Amino acid sequence: MVLGVETSCDETAAAVVDERFRVLSSVVESSIDQHRDFGGVVPELAGRAHVTTIGPVVRRALEEADLELAAPDLAGVAVTGGPGLIGSLLVGLSAAKALALVWGVPLIGVNHLEGHLFAPLLESRELEWPLMTLLVSGGHSLIVLQRGPGEHRVLGETIDDAAGEAYDKVARWLGLGYPGGPAIDRLASVGSPDALSLPVSMIGDDFDLSFSGLKTAVVRATKADRTIATEDVAASFQRALAEQLLRKLRHSLERYEVRGVALAGGVAANSALRGGVAQLAGEFGIECHLPTLAMCTDNAAMIAAAGLYRLSIGQRSELSLSARPNWRLADVS
Ligand code: KG4
Ligand code: ZN
Repeated sequence: MVLGVETSCDETAAAVVDERFRVLSSVVESSIDQHRDFGGVVPELAGRAHVTTIGPVVRRALEEADLELAAPDLAGVAVTGGPGLIGSLLVGLSAAKALALVWGVPLIGVNHLEGHLFAPLLESRELEWPLMTLLVSGGHSLIVLQRGPGEHRVLGETIDDAAGEAYDKVARWLGLGYPGGPAIDRLASVGSPDALSLPVSMIGDDFDLSFSGLKTAVVRATKADRTIATEDVAASFQRALAEQLLRKLRHSLERYEVRGVALAGGVAANSALRGGVAQLAGEFGIECHLPTLAMCTDNAAMIAAAGLYRLSIGQRSELSLSARPNWRLADVS
């Protein structure tokens, strides 16, 4: 069993996963309520919240997995080393190091994005490789080809905003509060996607993504015509954004032969994306992996799973492990 610790953003999370990738416990606390009024996560507030929450969250994760607090039967402690907010990462790292030291078990630093890639594995252990994954969250948007667990190649990345960031910025513009993804998704279901004609950025024949032009187009169009209903703006924006992601994903499936396609990250909760990916999987005759909401958003079970894999191939981190706020998935080996 491995204990996972995740504190890269506003979620304080701890989880225990066993050697067969079964989730024995997964506890997630979020400081989101403290950030709402600011329209985004305030790093200083998030860091302070982790300090008070991390202890109780780890304790609960151990208790729910029926592990003894003083000397749990663990093969190691996995912790998010980056990317993320430096002040938040440091809290998780300090806690994980202290626990690994007192328990006398190995420590392993995990890349948060690699963690997201392990989420589908926790729900369908019969997963067949290779797998194409669309990883979309508030901070990241990537198309990743996975040949096996831990063997990933980043095919494309956003060159500006992340998909969730675009959702949050447009929602803020529309006065829908933070986080904006769920609100826009809900409104989009009753609006008309044809109300606004918005650009679908494709930036050439590669797999890179771009959302900042779309966001600007929404702002410009709604400034030009203030009578457009908010649900119509939401539906038009959602369609343009999903269309770009799905076109690029389709392009990757045409280029590389895979056995399955997966969605990961917080934006994987989006109804248009879930429907679109399922349809693509059907068209290409491959498996479709849509993790549950709890597994799409930030959690520590995915970090424990990635750590379990890294430990199983003999990797360990030193207690001097430092936070890497800009750690790229492409640099993980
Ligand atoms: O993965 P996550 O929980 O945190 C990060 O690591 O970023 O993702 C949060 C992001 C936010 O930007 C939020 O607006 C977006 O996911 N999101 C959605 C939906 N639910 C959450 N975006 C679109 N549609 C949704 N239903
Ligand atoms: Zn995340």
